[in-house]
Amino acid sequence: MTRLAVFISGRGSNLQALIDARARGELAGEIGVVVSSRTGAPGLERAQEAGLRHRVVDAADYASREDFDAELDNVANQAGCGLICLAGFMRILTPGFADAWRNRLVNIHPALLPAFPGTACHRRVLESGVMITGCTVHFVRPALDAGPIIAQAAVPVLPGDDERSLADRVLVAEHRLYPMALNLVLQGRVRVIGERVVVDAPVRPGDMLVNPAP
Ligand code: GAR
Repeated sequence: MTRLAVFISGRGSNLQALIDARARGELAGEIGVVVSSRTGAPGLERAQEAGLRHRVVDAADYASREDFDAELDNVANQAGCGLICLAGFMRILTPGFADAWRNRLVNIHPALLPAFPGTACHRRVLESGVMITGCTVHFVRPALDAGPIIAQAAVPVLPGDDERSLADRVLVAEHRLYPMALNLVLQGRVRVIGERVVVDAPVRPGDMLVNPAP
C-alpha cells in the first residue's frame, strides 16, 4: 500500500480530513509521516493524536532552500513514502524537488486554478466579482500553483461573503475533494498526458468534480 507524506505548515484541517478518511477505510493509502515547516503548528497535534510519525523541518534551520528540500526529501524517503501531499504547506519548493517528485507530489489550492494562484486568493476572488470559486487538487510543477489538475470542486460566492465566510465554505469542499482526488492517484487511475490528467475508468463522469457532481 502506498505511503503518503503529508506536509503542513499550520492548522492541519486537510490533514485531519485525510486521517478521518483513512479511519473510515476511505483512503487507499496510509499516512507514513507528517512534516511541518513550523514548530508548534496545530496540525502536529492532530498527527500526534492519530498516532502518526511526525517531524518539524524548519526552513530557518537550513542554509539554503536546496538544503531544506533535501531534508524534506530524506524524511519522505526514510518513511518509505511514494506520494507527497501538500496540505497548507506554505513554502515554495525548489524546481529540483518538484522534478524529483514529478507526478508524485500533489497540492490542494483554495481556488479554481489557473485562476487565483498564490496567497490571499479569497480576497482577490471577492474583489474580482466572480460568483463561483472553489478548490483544486493538482500535481506540483516548479511554477507557483501550477501543474496538471486532478480534481476540482466548485463553491458559490454568496452576497455578503467576507474572506472568512468564503474560506470556511471552500474548506468544506477541500475536505471532500482531497481524499477523493488522492484516491484516484493511489488507485493508479490517473495518467498525465501532455500536462493534462486523464482519469482511467471513471465510475461516473463526475468523478473528478465535487459541488455538484453532475
Ligand atoms: C487550505 O485552505 C489550503 O487549501 C491552503 O491553506 C489552507 C490550509 O488549511 N493552501 C494554500 O493556500 C496553498 N497555496 P489547513 O492547514 O487547515 O489544511
